[in-house]
Amino acid sequence: MSVSMPELIVTKTAESRLSEVDPANIQFGKIYSDHMLIAYYENGAWKQPEIMPYANLSLSPATTFMHYGQAIFEGIKAYKDADGNPLVFRPYDNWKRMNRSAERMAMPAVTEEVFIDGLRKLVSLDRDWIPGAPETSLYIRPFMFAIDEFIGVRPAEKFMFIIITSPAGPYYNKPVSIYVQDEYVRAFPGGIGFTKAAGNYGMSMYPTMKIKEMGYDQILWTDGFEHKYVQEIGTMNVFFVVGDKVLTPDITQDTILAGVTRDSVITLLREKGITVEERPITIDELQQAHHAGELKEAFGTGTAASIAPIYALTYRDDKMELPPMETWEHANWLKKELADIRYGRKEDTHNWVVRL
Ligand code: COI
Repeated sequence: MSVSMPELIVTKTAESRLSEVDPANIQFGKIYSDHMLIAYYENGAWKQPEIMPYANLSLSPATTFMHYGQAIFEGIKAYKDADGNPLVFRPYDNWKRMNRSAERMAMPAVTEEVFIDGLRKLVSLDRDWIPGAPETSLYIRPFMFAIDEFIGVRPAEKFMFIIITSPAGPYYNKPVSIYVQDEYVRAFPGGIGFTKAAGNYGMSMYPTMKIKEMGYDQILWTDGFEHKYVQEIGTMNVFFVVGDKVLTPDITQDTILAGVTRDSVITLLREKGITVEERPITIDELQQAHHAGELKEAFGTGTAASIAPIYALTYRDDKMELPPMETWEHANWLKKELADIRYGRKEDTHNWVVRL
């Protein structure tokens, strides 16, 4: 059945696949909801988006993003409140960040109508896919890629923007062990470290595979010149509690993703009167703090990961184990505080939550 709407066309699936979801066992990123949104950009403008049943795409093998990586994405989550109403967390911030990525990657900005209105309609349509169990949500993945059919290297003129959604459990099921990377490099000033470009993740696969073979879960990247300053974990931003202060790398050098969860955490901590320092942080400083008994907590933040506690940080042959998590003051509080806002259990004083 095709229904024409003022801004977009909606074609509903003939048969929902929702019964395939086991609500007691929802993993991250494995099942996709019934519908997706697709919008095309050509001749300098976005065309009317369409919502249609989730399906495979058909693309020419000469499609440029497959060769030259003009591809970017975002991650957003929708939650259900106690009455079953969908709540989307800070989608405007992701929309703005996607457009910062787009500019750096010579891609067109996505309009509010396409990104925000499209997302609202898509999530409204698939609202039954938002799971209800604690720590679950509907992960929303907007992404854009170049679709010119051309083998020469030049910025494309045609693009596809898609939103898919996926019922999700926690990205990390347990605290993580982090390896401080001082050989491979993720980002350097003037590069694309601040973007959610697909290539930032593609380049991390080999070094991550190597450290996984050594028994670690994730990499903490360091700067490309001296391997001295910590940057981000690649799937998350990073925070350290040292003494009575919370430290996180500053994002002024364009090497680190401006995480939406990162920003939420900084805001909540500062409102609580906690000192948060956004500044360059050296691995030496963290080692010294650990050996003085002052490194009290370390955690990653991200849309997929939410607040992910780090139980050990290894730099060369120094394995720094963090104190038992029951003693942690900030990460545990932040996890609950953020969840209370996201699931609508607490007043949203920042206007972070968008109700559909
Ligand atoms: C997110 O947190 O939404 C991300 O995009 C990270 C990704 C590695 C799952």
